[in-house]
Amino acid sequence: MRPIRYVALVVLLIASFVLSFAATPATSVKAQKQLTIGFAQTGSESGWRTAFTNAMKSAAEKESIKLLFSDGQQKQEVQIAALRSFVAQGVDAILLAPIVETGWDAVLKEAKDAKIPVFLVDRGVQVSDDSLYVTRVAADFAHEGRLAAAWLSTAVAGSKWVNGCNILEMQGTVGSSAALDRAKGFNEVLALFPTMKIVATQSGDFTRDGGKKVMEGFIQSQNGLKEICAIWAHNDDMLLGALEALKAGGIKTGKGGIFTISVDAVPDIFKAMADGDASATVELLPDLGPIAYQTVRDFLGGKEVQKRIVMPSPMWFPDTAADQYAKRSAAK
Ligand code: AHR
Repeated sequence: MRPIRYVALVVLLIASFVLSFAATPATSVKAQKQLTIGFAQTGSESGWRTAFTNAMKSAAEKESIKLLFSDGQQKQEVQIAALRSFVAQGVDAILLAPIVETGWDAVLKEAKDAKIPVFLVDRGVQVSDDSLYVTRVAADFAHEGRLAAAWLSTAVAGSKWVNGCNILEMQGTVGSSAALDRAKGFNEVLALFPTMKIVATQSGDFTRDGGKKVMEGFIQSQNGLKEICAIWAHNDDMLLGALEALKAGGIKTGKGGIFTISVDAVPDIFKAMADGDASATVELLPDLGPIAYQTVRDFLGGKEVQKRIVMPSPMWFPDTAADQYAKRSAAK
């Protein structure tokens, strides 16, 4: 190679090396430094919520992320105050698990104006401008409701309730996307089966206590559940609370009794299935940390991020419940 060509090649290589750094958005530097992320959690209403909080904290620790955690205590105003505090502290990103769907526009706009990206984890929001948040990492709650109703319709088909199935529904927190979408999905599929209908519905606020109280009321108002074929609970905790009331009232559920279907797959529902007291559950995976944090890094690094990241929703039944209970309770 002639010297002049050699010098030109070296100059070109150096120039492209320098340019490759100049072309990298400043944000990717942020993606590589130790991140500070604010996480506004709804509270600790259920076993699933606690597992989700623990998973987010331990994934942050593994990834050396400084996680500022706020417990929303089931109050939207507490979550809004947490978001404002994260903005004031100048965090790199905010994760929000919104307690209810509406009422977020103003605070999300404040975060956007401060150039702090917000990522939804778990529940969703209804906002006038979708650019107020980057993405949502969560299962599809309407799909969970559809799965629950589809399974129930098949179970009912082979039972004494084939010509008519009265269902009791225990809803989650009023106004939460988890409650709204699960109800919507369940009702969509139920509409295909004219012999199946919800005869009473009430919110148990996603808590065991709430589920127990709602079921005590249903036992009174629904003639001791003599005409009830199934209980559809928006989460396992409400069903587990309801089972206490049902046992106290001598009412059999699960194997040989009223069908039950709920969501979350917390360890105790596997125990209830193994004991023959519950029929099925749709799993809501609590381990959103690794994917949520990777998405934050991708976004800060200038990569394109999908507007919705959907987690799978496996279903579980009594046949594997004893094994699953042993595994999951040991891992708790
Ligand atoms: O938003 C998800 C729901 O919230 C879970 O199914 C429930 O257990 C929790 O409280």
